[in-house]
Amino acid sequence: MSRILTGIQSSGKPHLGNLLGAIRPALELASQQNEPAFFFIADLHALTTVHNPVQLQENTYAVAAAWLAMGLDTERHVFFRQSDVPEVCELSWYLGCVTPYPMLANAHAFKEKAGNLAEVSAGLFTYPVLMAADILLYDTDIVPVGKDQKQHLEIARDIAGAFNRRYGEIFKLPTGFFQEEVMLLPGIDGRKMSKSYGNTLDVLGDEVELERRVRRIVTDSTPVEAPKDPGRCIVFQLYAAVASPEEVEEMRRRYVEGGYGYGQAKAELFRVLRERFAPQRAAYQQWMRDKAALEAILQKGAERARAEAAKVLGRVREAIGFQARVPSFRW
Ligand code: TYM
Repeated sequence: MSRILTGIQSSGKPHLGNLLGAIRPALELASQQNEPAFFFIADLHALTTVHNPVQLQENTYAVAAAWLAMGLDTERHVFFRQSDVPEVCELSWYLGCVTPYPMLANAHAFKEKAGNLAEVSAGLFTYPVLMAADILLYDTDIVPVGKDQKQHLEIARDIAGAFNRRYGEIFKLPTGFFQEEVMLLPGIDGRKMSKSYGNTLDVLGDEVELERRVRRIVTDSTPVEAPKDPGRCIVFQLYAAVASPEEVEEMRRRYVEGGYGYGQAKAELFRVLRERFAPQRAAYQQWMRDKAALEAILQKGAERARAEAAKVLGRVREAIGFQARVPSFRW
């Protein structure tokens, strides 16, 4: 029996990369376990990039609606919003105190921005520590994530190891779970599909907008009649992630034969995206019209998460020399 946990930032609307790289594999994995899994919306992490409160709230509901639309069973699993569990901030501080500075300074996400340090907040710098707290607070065994999170996971393991060396065997060392067949999905400009690059395909959102964005996928200038290399084409890579093996073979054949234009390939990609995600799109839109229902689900999930968090945090507090329970204040 293994405990599974994963999170998605509410830094934008959930996109195809989130659905295929994280939500779908996480739900599949969770369905094979007897134990409830922990799934959450990382809205504290989103604060490193989203500074508009209305936007942040809307994104949080959008990520919640996406999980539910993809089939998350909230009776069975624990589904919550990160900021509803303040214990995670407390643990994050304790973990920060055993984290060596170079470990964070070498993190890719930080290094990318290190050329312009004035733009790096302390929150961005310590992002991996909070992520380690997310994972360690619930005695997690397995963390299903896309390959872009690999380093963050290694850091979480290293932090757990550092804490255990100082205070004894307090934390389990979590392992990552990366779907080999789902590569990091490219966005419409060929870079990793990411909210921060604005290159996403929001398959649960408006269809007209989706079609417009599929049409904007960057391709080379090979003429229609010439043979094309599927391995170098973003349209093909995206198609391969969503279409059936037979459909993918068929498109591969057409690329290699020639006489098949990128416009046709894009129309085919759009058709598959629209069809395959039709039930989820309808469910997503229905949830987005009922924020009160989303809120009720998240509140219930937070109660369950906090009960679990209190156990681990008690263990940690005791180990570092504090009282296991946080004393309640009397004014
Ligand atoms: P985030 O919000 O960037 O992405 C959420 C999940 O989606 C996956 N993903 C992708 N998979 C394939 N192709 C892509 N183009 C693509 N883009 C995103 C990510 O790998 C991830 O699994 N730091 C995390 C959020 C987080 C978290 C955690 C995750 C906070 N605390 C604890 C696991 C455990 C993040 O930025 O995800």
